[in-house]
Amino acid sequence: MLRVCVCVSGGGTNLQAIMDAMDAGKITNTQIVRVISNNKGAYALERAKNKGIDAAVVSPKDFADRDLFNEAFLRCVDEAGPDLIVLAGFLVVLPPMMIKKYERRIINIHPALIPSFCGKGYYGLKVHEAVLARGVKITGATVHFVDEGTDTGPIILQKAVEVLPDDTPQVLQQRVMEQAEWVILPQAINMIANGKI
Ligand code: GAR
Repeated sequence: MLRVCVCVSGGGTNLQAIMDAMDAGKITNTQIVRVISNNKGAYALERAKNKGIDAAVVSPKDFADRDLFNEAFLRCVDEAGPDLIVLAGFLVVLPPMMIKKYERRIINIHPALIPSFCGKGYYGLKVHEAVLARGVKITGATVHFVDEGTDTGPIILQKAVEVLPDDTPQVLQQRVMEQAEWVILPQAINMIANGKI
């Protein structure tokens, strides 16, 4: 059994896609051992609790400085004893110490085709705003291993999605999620759980 810790900051639709894929048998040999959020109000926490999954909050607001937050966050991850850490819409920069400790055991979903529209400042809706501003006709999503850079680690899976003439950032975000993110993130986890990567 692959022990997975999922880190989230917001709505948690990617977390939901992972849990649904597990129920549907599309992800096998996998157990979500903990969901961690930096944000107390994240709806993702409710999604975890509804499934009876251990849900924890480690918020930077509760710590005097970044180092203390980083230590507490890493402790919370370590306690879960994960084989794999999945960043599913997690908008916090990971402590370098943690990236080193869990080398090739952390994956992230990014809502664009890396190396386009990625790096510092490209997250959430901002990515889709930039895609529309540039006028590209194809976008998509990427699952990649996390290294010390921002969105620079080795790519595991990508899926392309069409940009349509009347798209707003919100409409495009929804299409990218439905057609790409919710497909390739569960797929990547299943591949890792079954020794295919
Ligand atoms: C997703 O679109 C994810 O790709 C993005 O945040 C959203 C979270 O949605 N992540 C990033 O932009 C990371 N750079 P969710 O909470 O509903 O899964």
